[in-house]
Amino acid sequence: MTTTIIKNGTIVTHDLTYRADVRVDGGKITEIGANLSGGTELDATGCYVMPGGIDPHTHLEMPFMGTYSADDFESGTRAALAGGTTMVIDFALPSPGQGLLDALQMWSNKSTRAHCDYSYHMAITWWSQQVFDEMKEVTDRGITSFKHFLAYKGALMVNDDELFASFRRLRDLGGLAMVHAENGDVVAELSAKLLADGNSGPEGHAYSRPPQVEGEATNRAIMIADMAGVPLYVVHTSCEDSHEAIRRARQQGKRVYGEPLIQHLTLDESEYFNADWDHAARRVMSPPFRNKMHQDSLWAGLSAGSLSVVATDHCAFTTDQKRFGAGDFTKIPNGTGGLEDRMPMLWTYGVMTGRITMNEFVAVTSTNVAKIFGMYPRKGAISVGSDADIVVWDPAKSKTISAKHQQSAIDYNVFEGKAVTGLPRYTLTRGRVAVNDGAIIGAEGHGEFVPRAANGPVNTALSAWKDLTAPRPIQRSGIPASGV
Ligand code: URP
Ligand code: ZN
Ligand code: ZN
Ligand code: ZN
Repeated sequence: MTTTIIKNGTIVTHDLTYRADVRVDGGKITEIGANLSGGTELDATGCYVMPGGIDPHTHLEMPFMGTYSADDFESGTRAALAGGTTMVIDFALPSPGQGLLDALQMWSNKSTRAHCDYSYHMAITWWSQQVFDEMKEVTDRGITSFKHFLAYKGALMVNDDELFASFRRLRDLGGLAMVHAENGDVVAELSAKLLADGNSGPEGHAYSRPPQVEGEATNRAIMIADMAGVPLYVVHTSCEDSHEAIRRARQQGKRVYGEPLIQHLTLDESEYFNADWDHAARRVMSPPFRNKMHQDSLWAGLSAGSLSVVATDHCAFTTDQKRFGAGDFTKIPNGTGGLEDRMPMLWTYGVMTGRITMNEFVAVTSTNVAKIFGMYPRKGAISVGSDADIVVWDPAKSKTISAKHQQSAIDYNVFEGKAVTGLPRYTLTRGRVAVNDGAIIGAEGHGEFVPRAANGPVNTALSAWKDLTAPRPIQRSGIPASGV
């Protein structure tokens, strides 16, 4: 069993900052204390020792819009580690008509080359007795979160009756409901009108998905989840309209989580007005980037606690793939990358500017994810017994982001030219050093599937409350005779 000591660093967790060394034996943290010795030493002088990032939203080698996203579990998890992220949760996506267990098998085949640990969410892309039945088996296998698309009409979108049925099933299974919240019917209408009026360029994508389609769908999903009695996680919250619905729901005691992406926090809608078609198309994703007012809302949500997590929705397509949509923006594959850049970008634009604290950084990149998705404190913690998924973060290390030096398989980077300060000195995946001062020492297949627990404390509390307040017949002394 290999022993590693991380020496002379400052441990930063979601709630504490203190100086201590960390001992790692056989992939687990076994001791935290002063002056530890007796193993391979990693010098963390001047660094913060934090739980490795967990990205709860990736699409690796995903079949989508007539093609496959270009980063697979090999390049995707290598990129993750390079940027200090030690776990991803990817979406197993049954095509409509395909069984959930079948899709799960496909995703298990894809993930064998992962360099770091991973888990899956299951997507509900259609509804039937088979889907209802298989949700139990999926949950039993440790996949306890289920995503529903309110967008992508005619492809992945589900209707409200299906949404309600699935949410109720999840309440009974103790799972977490997730939504991609955009009104797919309205997007389809707006897209058709834009195309008819000659708006065929990538900017049409942004025009077809105004903040209102997101605000409406978010609010709808929140209300349906509340009626079903299930906690809800809203992926890629991009605007004030959606954030407002989440904030209001949380103030009312509803169990709702919002997930802004690093892209929406740091890139704005002007990207779509760029005169270079490729530049604009490379940034086409759903929801689209927004203006500064929306960005400020997202940042405020992170510090206020109304938004819980920062993810990437990493779904990378090459320029050639993006060109499928030349002449028709609705055919541009939707998605952008970010796995390698999430942590340094959030540190630079969040911690260094004073928008969030270091501890909040750990919370939104790791600990909150582990808690919400049922794997805390195995993941998301620097504590004895936790997996040694650790990033030794050097706040003085800087670089300029460039596609030339990235791990991702695509030929560009949406953050190209951004100067970031704050990068991993070391990244450890279950005790194995995968990044050593900029050098990536990957190990394909090192990553393992992480099963997650259903019926977490939030499910239990919400179900208890819903049971207590459920409709009950009023006890009366008698029923009057019929009036007819
Ligand atoms: O544009 C995006 N977000 N592509 C990935 C699929 C999804 O909607 O999350
Ligand atoms: Zn989505
Ligand atoms: Zn996504
Ligand atoms: Zn490799």
